[in-house]
Amino acid sequence: MIPENTGPAAVIVLAAGAGTRMKSRTPKILHEIGGRSMVGHALLAARSISPRQLAIVVRHERDLVARHVAELDPAALIVDQDDIPGTGRAVEVALQALDAEQDLTGTVVVTYGDVPLLSGQLLAELVATHEREANAVTVLTADLDDATGYGRILRGEDGTVTGIREHKDASDAERLIREVNSGIYAFDAAVLRDALTHVTTDNSQGEKYLTDVLGLARKAGGRVAAVVTADRWQVEGANDRVQLSALGAELNRRIVEAWMRAGVTVVDPATTWIDSSVTLDEDVRILPNTQLHGATTVARDAVVGPDTTLTDVTIGEGAKVTRTHGSGAVIGAGAAVGPFTYLRPGTVLGDTGKIGAFYETKNVTIGRGSKLSHLGYAGDAEIGEDTNIGCGNITANYDGEKKHRTVIGSGVRTGSNTVFVAPVTVGDGAYSGAGAVIRKDVPAGALAVTVAAQRNAEGWVAANRPGTRSAELAQAATTDSSSTPASTEEGK
Ligand code: UD1
Ligand code: MG
Repeated sequence: MIPENTGPAAVIVLAAGAGTRMKSRTPKILHEIGGRSMVGHALLAARSISPRQLAIVVRHERDLVARHVAELDPAALIVDQDDIPGTGRAVEVALQALDAEQDLTGTVVVTYGDVPLLSGQLLAELVATHEREANAVTVLTADLDDATGYGRILRGEDGTVTGIREHKDASDAERLIREVNSGIYAFDAAVLRDALTHVTTDNSQGEKYLTDVLGLARKAGGRVAAVVTADRWQVEGANDRVQLSALGAELNRRIVEAWMRAGVTVVDPATTWIDSSVTLDEDVRILPNTQLHGATTVARDAVVGPDTTLTDVTIGEGAKVTRTHGSGAVIGAGAAVGPFTYLRPGTVLGDTGKIGAFYETKNVTIGRGSKLSHLGYAGDAEIGEDTNIGCGNITANYDGEKKHRTVIGSGVRTGSNTVFVAPVTVGDGAYSGAGAVIRKDVPAGALAVTVAAQRNAEGWVAANRPGTRSAELAQAATTDSSSTPASTEEGK
């Protein structure tokens, strides 16, 4: 951790570009990988080196991007780029905005909003090298097998960096160079400010190139150098959805690997997707085909999966969550959920409790040790401790207009297919009979039954379904004395 305000004077994040190759109504840098927008990743990396100021340059879909940035990083200065195109112009307008009160001095870092795997660590290394060598400009570079499209790093006989040539402006010989400009730099503020006044739009794209600053800085007597990274992913931008998914997969691979190194068992990293915002304890086990999103946290010894998707779910120590789709839920220590369970927001399951197969829950608090084992719906309800909810129970919480609450006490035992017609309250230790429809409050310790007398219509099958297999078997059963006696009202 770098202490606050000890980092560079400023980081400028460039994010004015259109990103047309995404073919999307959503601005490119708002597309997500690892559960966070690309610009969200860029802002986090920028913040992690504790700059005194952070500016982001916007233009394309300005309002959408500005709103998103303001949510993620309210202290970031949003700067509008004008109609003059180019990375040089983008940095120039940002510098003017940052200089408004007082000219910046020291190191100014430039990064892109669409390079999501860049780490704060590599940025810190760039700044450290820049300041240690007292450079005018330090550029982050990488050697690529296919450098097509990138600006090429020009070096003199002695290997020192002399400038950058854009692909479109490069000669055939220059295009053979494999060392490319990442677009990420550390500049001395005064050198940058001065050089930008001399940058023109005199090039094949008619843009103000930030890359021209390197040559200008050298001419002015400054030292220009490069930090070469062997990790190409950290400087890779996403221009289309193919690159976006490749970067997303690589980010996930890194996240999953980091958790395994931290003591989490991941049985199948290829089908396990973990957002960068998720936290896991040691000895958690993640089974195949599991996706953990948002603010999900999993405590020690818990087992999650297989086939489970959880968003903003808190899982307690030693809990088991199997084939479950959940969001906004809390699962207590030692509790069990699944298989085939749908946890909706506001579900709170107490320690050692259970929500079993084919259950849907929403906005329900379930006390310690209580079990909802099979086939049902519990919504807008509160259930006490050590209560057993029978198979197929339903809280009928919606009257067609409004939602109502069901309150069930502790130590309650409900019969199969009990329906609670909310609002209704069931006292501690109460029971209900199978098929009960609870419309009135049940006092503590009472048995609630709603019984309609059963009537058996003798011979109904023979009369109404003649010639069927049922009729045939019924006939055999009633005539064969050795078979189980047919049950009749009189026979009971
Ligand atoms: C730029 C570099 C190139 C480098 C490459 C790395 C220049 C002239 N070229 O090229 O040397 O190899 O990045 O990806 O700098 N942007 C603005 N305002 C603008 C133009 C761009 O904010 O007017 C932002 C974009 O949103 C993007 C970044 O700057 O985040 C780079 O822009 P892009 O158009 O992709 O530059 P390249 O031509 O790829
Ligand atoms: Mg680009």
